[in-house]
Amino acid sequence: MSIIDQSGTFTLGDRSVKRLGYGAMQLAGPGVFGPPKDHDAALAVLRTAVESGVDHIDTSDFYGPHVTNQLIREALHPYRDDLVIVTKVGARRGEDKSWIPAFSREELTKAVHDNLRNLGLDVIEVVNLRLMFSVYGPAEGSLEAPLTVLADLQRQGLIRHIGLSNATATQIAEGRGIAKIACVQNQYNLAHRDDDVLIDDLARDGIAYVPFFPLGGFSPLQSSTLSDVATRLNATPMQVALAWLLRRAPNILLIPGTSSVGHLRENLAAAELVLPDDAVSELDKVAAIAA
Ligand SMILES: NC(=O)c1ccc[n+]([C@@H]2O[C@H](COP(=O)([O-])OP(=O)(O)OC[C@H]3O[C@@H](n4cnc5c(N)ncnc54)[C@H](OP(=O)(O)O)[C@@H]3O)[C@@H](O)[C@H]2O)c1
Repeated sequence: MSIIDQSGTFTLGDRSVKRLGYGAMQLAGPGVFGPPKDHDAALAVLRTAVESGVDHIDTSDFYGPHVTNQLIREALHPYRDDLVIVTKVGARRGEDKSWIPAFSREELTKAVHDNLRNLGLDVIEVVNLRLMFSVYGPAEGSLEAPLTVLADLQRQGLIRHIGLSNATATQIAEGRGIAKIACVQNQYNLAHRDDDVLIDDLARDGIAYVPFFPLGGFSPLQSSTLSDVATRLNATPMQVALAWLLRRAPNILLIPGTSSVGHLRENLAAAELVLPDDAVSELDKVAAIAA
């Protein structure tokens, strides 16, 4: 029994995973580009995560590019049977570190094969289609063409389950008419709550919601309320932010990112932090203050 067992489980595709997982994006170099500054430290983060009971890792071949997948393979292959690796396609990287939409049939097919090769897998458990209609957040536009490509790759046996990322409710409804959607990965945290209604709708349908930037992303969350609650509970602000997400809805699966073993251990310990109701009421007001 590890600490993170206390986070509970939820179904991702047809696998049960612990609700506290790990996001590998922070392992690449600055700007999610190039190699990490400390290769061995990056391997240590991945190995510590799995040794600590993490069974859900989020990645993409466009992190680096290729870097995080190659690190995951070096650190963890051959993979434990219970490890679920989730990746995403829909973008490629420019030489200037930019994120370029990559939605043609050729680009999506190449991306899936790149993920398979760099992760050392024959089939990927979950592939998220990362929508790129806007770089700033979800924006409307039909996903029929790219999702049809992923559904074809799923029929070929290269992908077990399909998810959507950076998607609106309209796009998720459209997507569910084309393929079975296992999860939705959008930006959401204590201070950024655009998806409140969507999360509850997905929970009713048994679909996992995986917030990216659960700690605020490149600029971790800062809030006096968060700090005050953390001090009272003898926890850290990041642990409180994660415990709040675990409490928010049963279908939320966490993938906090870090390049540090110390931060990883701190984040995983959030699984045993129980927030009293009065703390939750205070934390629920943070988004309104931040808006
Ligand atoms: N679908 C998408 O479009 C999308 C977009 C972004 C991210 N993602 C996925 O979501 C995962 C999570 O997002 P994220 O990693 O960008 O952001 P995050 O989890 O919100 O936060 C990561 C940042 O917080 C810092 N941090 C982590 N733990 C900490 C702690 N205990 N104390 C202080 N600082 C801490 C990290 O720095 P240190 O390295 O120094 O700990 C890093 O700067 C990613 O790894 C990626 O897999 C998906």
